[in-house]
Amino acid sequence: MPPSVIYRSAPLYELVMAVLYGRHYAARYKTIAELIPDGASVVDLCCGPGVLYTRYLRRRPVSYIGVDSNPGFVRRVIQSGALGIVADLSSAEIPEGDYVVMQASLYHFLPNAKPIVERMIAAARERVIVAEPIRNITGSRFRLLSAIGRSLTDAGRGGEGLRFKESDLDLLFRDFPVEKSFLIPGGREKVFVIRKSSRV
Ligand SMILES: C[S@@+](CC[C@H](N)C(=O)[O-])C[C@H]1O[C@@H](n2cnc3c(N)ncnc32)[C@H](O)[C@@H]1O
Repeated sequence: MPPSVIYRSAPLYELVMAVLYGRHYAARYKTIAELIPDGASVVDLCCGPGVLYTRYLRRRPVSYIGVDSNPGFVRRVIQSGALGIVADLSSAEIPEGDYVVMQASLYHFLPNAKPIVERMIAAARERVIVAEPIRNITGSRFRLLSAIGRSLTDAGRGGEGLRFKESDLDLLFRDFPVEKSFLIPGGREKVFVIRKSSRV
């Protein structure tokens, strides 16, 4: 099945995300960028067009690798000056980095998301950061919003329609050494920070 039309164009993807998150759009990236210290290497899984890098990390002394199954998105990441890898993360090896990050993409690994979190922890030298939607517009009573939401969850490889509730996420992360968890401004995503080790 081909990916949703939203995943075929980086500008369209950004526009749809900006509409969905409204005035909290910038905060969803800024919140994650602020958790990453200068000097760190970042591996961003399911990075999309690499907005975390292009708008929030590029001007800082941080190295960045974006991994996504969508070649068009990865091309954007490479054009912006970072490293980009096209890979299906359900089986591909995760590159090592100080911070291994995944934003709004864990649901792609349902019904069993635990193995990808375990693999992220194995690849991280310092911390794993997962931010995942808990208020999903796929359940919206507004048909257009609901349709856009379903489209955003469709990366073209089946299994779509499955999403996390906050209680599901809490249950999943109970098995991991979570340093802190909190909601992003607007409350649409929950962030889990797993500490692997401290910097020396
Ligand atoms: C909702 S977007 C999130 C993009 C970005 N993290 C952000 O927050 O802006 C989900 C991304 O996951 C990617 N994706 C879905 N399944 C994947 C898989 N198995 N391996 C790699 N990337 C995947 C899609 O191509 C898409 O770019």
